Amino acid sequence: MPGTCVIGLQWGDEAKGKIVDLLTSGRRYVVRYQGGANAGHTVVVGEEVYKLSLLPSGVLTPGVTCMITGGVVLNPAKVLEEIDELVSRDIRLDGESLKISNRTHVILPWHFAEDRVLDTSTGGESIGTTQRGIGPCYRDKVARSHAVRLGDMYRGDFKERIEHITKEKNRVLAAMVADGEFEPLVADDIYKQYSDFADRLKPYVADTTELLLSSLEQGEHVLFEGAQGSLLDVDHGTYPYVTSSNSSGVGISNGSGVPGKYMDCVLGVVKAYSTRVGGGPFPTELDDDTGQYLRDRGNEYGTVTRRPRRCGWLDAVAIRYTARLGGVDGLCVMLMDVLSGLDEINICTAYEIDGERTNVFPSHVDDLRRVKPVYESVPGWEEEIDGAQSYDDLPAAAHAYLDRIAELVGCPVDVVSVGPGRAQTIVLNESLTRTN
Ligand code: IMP
Repeated sequence: MPGTCVIGLQWGDEAKGKIVDLLTSGRRYVVRYQGGANAGHTVVVGEEVYKLSLLPSGVLTPGVTCMITGGVVLNPAKVLEEIDELVSRDIRLDGESLKISNRTHVILPWHFAEDRVLDTSTGGESIGTTQRGIGPCYRDKVARSHAVRLGDMYRGDFKERIEHITKEKNRVLAAMVADGEFEPLVADDIYKQYSDFADRLKPYVADTTELLLSSLEQGEHVLFEGAQGSLLDVDHGTYPYVTSSNSSGVGISNGSGVPGKYMDCVLGVVKAYSTRVGGGPFPTELDDDTGQYLRDRGNEYGTVTRRPRRCGWLDAVAIRYTARLGGVDGLCVMLMDVLSGLDEINICTAYEIDGERTNVFPSHVDDLRRVKPVYESVPGWEEEIDGAQSYDDLPAAAHAYLDRIAELVGCPVDVVSVGPGRAQTIVLNESLTRTN
């Protein structure tokens, strides 16, 4: 399997980091290819808990080279902070074990200011962004005139470029921000701060596209690690309540520069229920005690922003859509242990809209707001399952729930996770962890 991909099939926070960590060993590269410091991965190794935002979860496995490719928007302060934190905990991170593409776009101070203003300017429910400057940086990337790529920071005209863009951005921001709340940005300060970042990042900067293509041409194994979830994809998600990158399976090639012919296996990660952070429609949302039960047991508070996550039942209509969109071969069902103690569990099997039943995921957010979920109830189970070591250790009701998910989505369940630890993982498809 030269190229294995791990993507989220819901609205992010599906615990993809744990699956990446499980599959990392034996890979030449582990690649983060979209998004930025809006993502958050928690990986538990023994007693140690690691919280990562920009660095791929593969950094915790010795001997693997991690990559941040050109589709990512890079917050230099944040990536350096993460590197420092891991190095202080004895994780080796040098120019050999970490490569950052010279094509990544750099988040600059004006992007944070723009994010604050734009987030509440949708003319309806706000998007509820993570305020990490993600959307404005991608906007500048596409608009081109005011963008800075990592490679630009090492060019002779970097100072002039910062001076020019700061002048332009101050003009735009003065018009966007309310009177009295705008403090002009100072080009000199930004140049000094970002030159310092450039110096510190230099050992890691590389042409990752070239490295990846050469590696795959030689048949080496590469793991692609998605950030956010497919329903937050800028083109195929619940637009405009999405992030600004292609966070579904379709983003792997454009974010990494690797063509689809190398992607042999795509794993879709889902929670055993649903969560969403920020604004936008959520058909199976539970605004009641059951929603709070899931939030408490699943510790459903954002890794990056600590915002309480909205919780609800598993939505098989949405997952079937994103699994097909991503060409998913197998499912990883995470946080199964959270469901213990519920008398019955609902699965959304269809939507009803204007009196008609459908299992097509609507393309317009207003239609998605109007759908009524059609539920099927399956029996729950009382016992805790966080100690389950194998599929047979799970109660019959959990088997029936997993079987029904696989049937509705049209993909086998390859992995079941019953807790945050590495050992709390039941792998049903042994070929996943084989790289020879
Ligand atoms: P942005 O990515 O900061 O622009 O935020 C856009 C939307 O995506 C907001 O609703 C965020 O809450 C959501 N979002 C961004 N990153 C993540 C993530 O890693 N997990 C869950 N939601 C996210």
